[in-house]
Amino acid sequence: MDVHIHADHEAVSRAAAELIIATAHRALERSGRFTIALAGGSTPKRTYELLAADPFWRAVPWDRTHVFFGDERMVPPDHEWSNYRTASEALLSRVPLPRSNVHRMRGELEPESAAQAYGAELRSLFGEDVPCFDLILLGLGPDGHTASIFPDSRTITESCTATAVKVPSAEPEVARVTLCLPVLNNARKVVFLATGRDKKSVLDKMLNTKTAKHLFPAAMVRAADMHLLTDQQVHAD
Ligand code: 6PG
Repeated sequence: MDVHIHADHEAVSRAAAELIIATAHRALERSGRFTIALAGGSTPKRTYELLAADPFWRAVPWDRTHVFFGDERMVPPDHEWSNYRTASEALLSRVPLPRSNVHRMRGELEPESAAQAYGAELRSLFGEDVPCFDLILLGLGPDGHTASIFPDSRTITESCTATAVKVPSAEPEVARVTLCLPVLNNARKVVFLATGRDKKSVLDKMLNTKTAKHLFPAAMVRAADMHLLTDQQVHAD
């Protein structure tokens, strides 16, 4: 895991936007398209806003970019808890991305139906093999979860592509659909975004202790090329 420590959240967000653009260009050279799964939560919002603004938006090949989601809360797409709504307001509605290239987890459905529908959506682009994203953005929860793969949950061991999960301890407490670990591990590049003092403890445990991996799903991710973008606040004493 390459750990990049930046001055603050803004610098992390700018570095993440630059990394996404560089990855998009390499993907385009390799396959003629760029596939990315966006992270949920609040940390990546600034990255999305930067990608939608000058100069970054002009550098992304939006017409050949396919946007998926790492996980979604089971709420309608206009709900305040929707990861899609966050990404749409900050980025997707502001750039020339074909609507058919936005692959939303349908939070308005029942969880199992939404997970099955997403599996079909993934197969439509990746075929029957385990999806291989050019880039998956991931956040890091205080309990070590990432996407909606939570400690001690069955999602840790499921060899699926997308699955529904209900986690009483999750914040907000709502059912979710998540990409499964085999998909995260099969990505060409994974970038974790974790900033702010409240991530210090979980990052310390994730990077520096031999904590049992089933307690820290984020520490179970093993992709070919992994980066952690964090800031000085996390490392301040
Ligand atoms: C979700 C997210 C989740 C998130 C982490 C960090 O839907 O809740 O996918 O995995 O990335 O909980 O959230 P923050 O960025 O808000 O700290």
